[in-house]
Amino acid sequence: MKFFVDTADTAQIAELNDLGMVDGVTTNPSLILKSGRDILEVTQEIAAMVEGPVSAEVVALEADAMIAEGRKLAAIAPNIAVKVPLTWDGLRACKVLSGEGNMVNVTLCFSANQALLAAKAGATFISPFIGRLDDINLDGMQIISDIRQIYDNYGYETQILAASIRTVNHAHQSAMIGADVMTAPPAVIKAMASHPLTDKGLAAFMADWEKTGQKIL
Ligand code: E4P
Repeated sequence: MKFFVDTADTAQIAELNDLGMVDGVTTNPSLILKSGRDILEVTQEIAAMVEGPVSAEVVALEADAMIAEGRKLAAIAPNIAVKVPLTWDGLRACKVLSGEGNMVNVTLCFSANQALLAAKAGATFISPFIGRLDDINLDGMQIISDIRQIYDNYGYETQILAASIRTVNHAHQSAMIGADVMTAPPAVIKAMASHPLTDKGLAAFMADWEKTGQKIL
């Protein structure tokens, strides 16, 4: 499973990248706001830091304007994936931008039917938002499972990018279902390393080691 980091915070990306945990990065307008950085400048910096796809989102709502913005974002670096919303205009922009050889990430996906349309429009990635479905008492994981089955039924190569991951359980379940990629905030990726029995076991080992009076270095 590929891990994308869902942030525009370059310090956090660098920390995880040094551990080999970063196969790509996703950003969105809210994350750009949070970073306090200029979108073109920070996207260029991130794209130079990581080898994998870096999603940068258009903000126009009409297809021709999305395409123009997408071309500008794609020109930043060869590893940019242009992010477009799952609207009819976004699908038109996806078709054109992917036809020009760009990676396209279709975002704000909340149904399997939307994901089917994105695959037919040539999306490189489809981003179903798990957490936001859970927020309104729907089953975010079910959509990942449905899209996996539909894409496998017909051999679509669009990669399922499980997004809006809020918990370590979302990460676990996405991996079990077979999402190709998950994008998660740095805190969730770090939390995946935690287990109370690891902490308890380590404390016991340290206590016994102290009693030996030995040193390794
Ligand atoms: C994905 O590309 C989005 O940036 C992100 O996963 C949205 O997550 P949120 O619903 O926690 O804001």
